[in-house]
Amino acid sequence: MSKQILLFSGSSNKTLAKEIGKNINSPLGAIELKIFPDNEISVTISEKVEDKNVFILQSLAIDPHRYLFELLIIVDALKRASAKKITAIIPYYSYGRQDRRINPGEPITAKLIANLLTSAGVTHLITLDLHADPIEGFFDIPVTHLHSQELLVNEAKKILQPNTVVVASDIGSFKMAEQIAKSLHLDLVIIRKERLSPAQVKTALIGNVTNKNVFLVDNICSTGATLISAATLCREKGAKTIIASVTHGIFAGKSLQKIEESPIESLFVTNTICQNDHIMDTKKIRLISVSKIIADAIENTRDP
Ligand code: R5P
Repeated sequence: MSKQILLFSGSSNKTLAKEIGKNINSPLGAIELKIFPDNEISVTISEKVEDKNVFILQSLAIDPHRYLFELLIIVDALKRASAKKITAIIPYYSYGRQDRRINPGEPITAKLIANLLTSAGVTHLITLDLHADPIEGFFDIPVTHLHSQELLVNEAKKILQPNTVVVASDIGSFKMAEQIAKSLHLDLVIIRKERLSPAQVKTALIGNVTNKNVFLVDNICSTGATLISAATLCREKGAKTIIASVTHGIFAGKSLQKIEESPIESLFVTNTICQNDHIMDTKKIRLISVSKIIADAIENTRDP
């Protein structure tokens, strides 16, 4: 008989954690998370975890430093309470874009986070659409790297029109876009992107979108500069309808408003990052849940 799954949630994405809990038929573990008046984080696990395999969900977006530190503290608490195995479920792994040194004097923050997680006591990581696959190698513990493209494709298929091409919004999203193009039996076009500043990019199209419908693919939407500039370029080059999909919707600053005003007609985004109600006010965004694929990964991980 299978053992009961103990799933805890940090404060970053309780909505997703609850959905996963429903999928695996397990209520969330009792945990008290508070902030002291001096802004330090207080964690108390109010559940017996001794000798158990536990899972803790925390997405590292919106307030990444607070959520990372909260996760480290929760893991420490679980370790000190003698949990047998501690699986961190990080649907959005922040700092994934800092996975190498481009200029002297820069850190490799994605590796630093891997070191912090394993030092704290994480024994297994479940994550989704890392910015770059090599980040898996930053860990000396098992990593389950899930992908959302099948979910995104299944939803997009419902509205995609004939004569569509898949467009990778930059070289970083090429692999994901290539797999999506293959599964949809569509041609692939690539955009070459040069980042001029954190919120400004220069783009050039490699391929043809004239008189075609476009399915634009990226893994992250932060300021929206990449997606919007890619969509604008496609429209300038004669694209007809433009549908887009991203795994992780950070939606920093006024990006949602800019997306509303852009040539993008619909944007599919997953709930790896908690989306507030404001996202529902935007007409173009369609939210897709990753709860089932994470629940399946948990089921596949637990002890028989
Ligand atoms: C970059 O390498 C990623 O694939 C995304 O294109 C990028 O992070 C999106 O950021 P923003 O929305 O700020 O352009």
